[in-house]
Amino acid sequence: MAETKTDPVARGEDPRAQSESLCEMNEYVLPQHANAMGNVFGGQIMAWVDLCAAICAQRHSGRMAVTAFVDDLKFVKPVRVGEVVHLESRVTATFHSSMEIEIKVQGENSRTRERWPCVDAFVVFVAIDDDGKPTAVPPLLLDSDQTRASQAAGEQRRQARLSKR
Ligand SMILES: CC(C)(COP(=O)(O)OP(=O)(O)OC[C@H]1O[C@@H](n2cnc3c(N)ncnc32)[C@H](O)[C@@H]1OP(=O)(O)O)[C@@H](O)C(=O)NCCC(=O)NCCS
Repeated sequence: MAETKTDPVARGEDPRAQSESLCEMNEYVLPQHANAMGNVFGGQIMAWVDLCAAICAQRHSGRMAVTAFVDDLKFVKPVRVGEVVHLESRVTATFHSSMEIEIKVQGENSRTRERWPCVDAFVVFVAIDDDGKPTAVPPLLLDSDQTRASQAAGEQRRQARLSKR
């Protein structure tokens, strides 16, 4: 009985395609988002990363989901006041109650449409049931070489993360 309650496949929840939970966001950089040099605060980018990943995790799982772990973030190139922060997130791997989400962040000059890399990040979200406990998520549909490679790479990164717990 407990198995049926916690296993999404047993509950009749089929694997879900990566395309079903993709999330794209654009944020216009205003002076309140920036430091004295006119560049967006790293913490502001982190907040947008967290939001973009949370929407993706909640779309995939159909549950509330909380941030459990954020991999190292490397800020490659700044985004300035008057430019746009463009974010895209996708589920790269699913485990039991947790999901790995990749977020790619680019700066954009909205007049020229030029884009440049800003940050790439992996974030782990855990789906939460109505009692606030971790609950199983539908598996990622492994329907292509790309999704199978993505799941395998996510499983390797998971080992590294859990060894730090
Ligand atoms: C994340 C949290 C729900 C995990 O709860 P827990 O009691 O430790 O649960 P478990 O040990 O059963 O782990 C649940 C899942 O989280 C994963 N997890 C927990 N800590 C992790 C970490 N540091 N890195 C990666 N995954 C982690 C586990 O691997 C497990 O995944 P699985 O079910 O897919 O195998 C809990 O620690 C929590 O609520 N943290 C605070 C979250 C928060 O406030 N975030 C910011 C605001 S949204």
